[in-house]
Amino acid sequence: MLHDPNRIYIFDTTLRDGEQVPGCQLTTSEKVEIALRLEALGVDVIEAGFPISSPGDFESVVALSKAVKEPVICALTRANTKDIDAAVESLKYAKRPRIHTGIGSSDMHIKYKFNSTREDILQRGVDAVKYAKRFVEDIEFYAEDAGRADIEFLAQMVEAVIAAGATVVNIPDTNGYCLPDQYGAKIKFLMDNVKNIDQAIISVHCHNDLGLATANTIAGIQNGARQAECTINGIGERAGNTSLEEVAMVLKTHQTLNKYTNINSRHFYEISGMVSRMMRMPVQPNKAIVGKNAFAHSSGIHQDGVLKHRENYEIINPEDVGIDSSEIILTARSGRHALKHHLERLDYVIDKINLDDVYERFLVVADSKKEIKDDDLLALMSGEGSER
Ligand code: KIV
Ligand code: ZN
Repeated sequence: MLHDPNRIYIFDTTLRDGEQVPGCQLTTSEKVEIALRLEALGVDVIEAGFPISSPGDFESVVALSKAVKEPVICALTRANTKDIDAAVESLKYAKRPRIHTGIGSSDMHIKYKFNSTREDILQRGVDAVKYAKRFVEDIEFYAEDAGRADIEFLAQMVEAVIAAGATVVNIPDTNGYCLPDQYGAKIKFLMDNVKNIDQAIISVHCHNDLGLATANTIAGIQNGARQAECTINGIGERAGNTSLEEVAMVLKTHQTLNKYTNINSRHFYEISGMVSRMMRMPVQPNKAIVGKNAFAHSSGIHQDGVLKHRENYEIINPEDVGIDSSEIILTARSGRHALKHHLERLDYVIDKINLDDVYERFLVVADSKKEIKDDDLLALMSGEGSER
């Protein structure tokens, strides 16, 4: 991989961590369709699945390995030889294969998940990296639950797995526990204290249990992480993973961060809809970037402002994320400016209309409806038809 410190690699895990959402399982052909869109979107790595988990997941990794040309294809394993063997086998057609292996790093996981000790866990992590490295050059190690891990032990683990051959080290906030400054400080500590840190890329992988996944990911990037792990629409177990479109648009909008990705954001709306449909998981209307209301204005003050100059109330150009234009929604909170805008769009000549009078009648109708559509406006204007 290139080593431009400002280039942020986007690792998409929609098809692995994202697909762990109950009821959202995809067929292999659906996964291939999404992977090809992810390739067009410009992601650097596609996590294709967890091959040992089921024959279907194994097949999906094989199919994606054959279908995708540019991005790295990654397969997840636990830190054991059986998982790694399955991953190696599933990746045999990949042009750029990566194995993503790892183990718990917090005392909570070490004690209550593995009933083990720090020393044993560290050794198992190192052994897994060394074993995987016999078959595949590009090895990513995940220190599961790093968000709650002791920082000195985490640093020791990161140093050991890099020495064992890890090319990327993932620092997951598996339970979405950290505050942005805590997570950022964790990444900074590793950047400052792990002796061989320049031999690997640090990756951030955040969960959204407290609604902080995007903020934590950005904090990690600001402190030296160069890979961000995300999903389309932020889908994932429980409250989900970091949303890919949010991270990419934060970096694009805040040029002062001086970080860039290879993402072509104009594909966002389309791929968001595709993932939502295939997974039968609706996107919440107020979801940043791709929600139905992300560029919809309904209050009079905002509508007036946005009609005077779009940037009064929009920090992103909707075309940049694949939406034709923002929407001015007519409701009982709308003002005359928005009503005039829609009447003109419907070809009414405003000079020939008593706008104040129409607005009074509009408010009466709007108070009894959630939203005024074109049909309602046409009915409202029927007595004034000659003006069209
Ligand atoms: O959240 C997590 O810790 C993970 C790892 C398996 C990478 O998804
Ligand atoms: Zn995860």
